[in-house]
Amino acid sequence: MIWIFLGILLTVVGCTATTSISCRNEQGQAVDWYILYKQPNIDGKNGLRYLYMDETTNGWVPGQYTIDDKQSAVAQTLKPLFDNIDTETDTFGYILYNDQPPVPYRTASSSYGHSKGVVLLDKHTGIWLSHSTPDFPGVDINSFWPQSGYHNGQSFICGTYKYSTFKDIAIQLEYIHVNPFNSHIPESFYPELQCVANKGCYPKEAPYYRQLDMTTLAGHKFVSYAKYGRLHDDLFSAVLDKHMGGDFYAKSWGRLRHPLPSNCSVPNIVYNVEQVQLPTTEPFSITVDHSKWSVTVDESSRPWTCIADMNREVSQESRGGGAVCTDNPAVWSAFSSIVFSYEPCPN
Ligand SMILES: *[C@@H]1O[C@H](CO)[C@@H](O)[C@H](O)[C@H]1NC(C)=O
Repeated sequence: MIWIFLGILLTVVGCTATTSISCRNEQGQAVDWYILYKQPNIDGKNGLRYLYMDETTNGWVPGQYTIDDKQSAVAQTLKPLFDNIDTETDTFGYILYNDQPPVPYRTASSSYGHSKGVVLLDKHTGIWLSHSTPDFPGVDINSFWPQSGYHNGQSFICGTYKYSTFKDIAIQLEYIHVNPFNSHIPESFYPELQCVANKGCYPKEAPYYRQLDMTTLAGHKFVSYAKYGRLHDDLFSAVLDKHMGGDFYAKSWGRLRHPLPSNCSVPNIVYNVEQVQLPTTEPFSITVDHSKWSVTVDESSRPWTCIADMNREVSQESRGGGAVCTDNPAVWSAFSSIVFSYEPCPN
């Protein structure tokens, strides 16, 4: 009798574990967080390869699948979205936001944040996946990875959080002033999330940026910084600079109309990264790498890494956007080791 009972118990526990909302690795197993770097297509064939890390990998490991595969970590993580997208249940919610959404949705006006991400949640847990990829995700599991996503490098950070954290994550999304192109938030979920989904809320008074200390489901500390367009200043030199704890490299897109130069007149110098070399590639220019991140130069000042959604560009000073940061030393080593060259300070 006891064995039958245990068997039932294990089945029930097993089921909840596989159906709950979590960041997931390529095996479909729940992971607390991951960071993913899709490499650019620099050799004419590997534009869908990616590097992956979570708390168990101690740095970059190559994905076994390409990013567009149904078994990539991104696809495994989005599975509950595609399982539920056609049935508006009162137990599962999602917000897909992107200033450059996939067809048939229209590009957001520049009053919206320069920001891209996915929130999936139920009343227990949820994920916040912040990324840099235009046209992502597509409408179903067969077309979730966009055709436009082949050539350029892209970055992703996924965190698993308790439901209660999303009341505050929603406020970060209000500062960023995200453009939700598809969403469903059940009526009984936080009104702050409804407001983001309805594009109804934004900060009304200074300061026009907000810091949120987040604890992942397994207890890791991540920090979100969000700025609203009315801050009229650069995310890296005006917001992140105060918290990096030392000089830092800032990696943004290399094809900008009015790029900001490295900034050597702020407390912590901001050096623009010019070339990146991933463990699986030759060095490449930021003109083929749309990823956005920053990492301190010196680990002893602070091993601080941020995955961002903005570029160092004049017009983006007046747009919303943000970054999710961690002081995990393995993450610091992984990013610090891929900086190949940077723009020095003027003499
Ligand atoms: C450096 O950054 C600060 C804060 O964003 C800004 O006010 C200043 O103009 C920048 N300086 C240069 C040389 O870019």
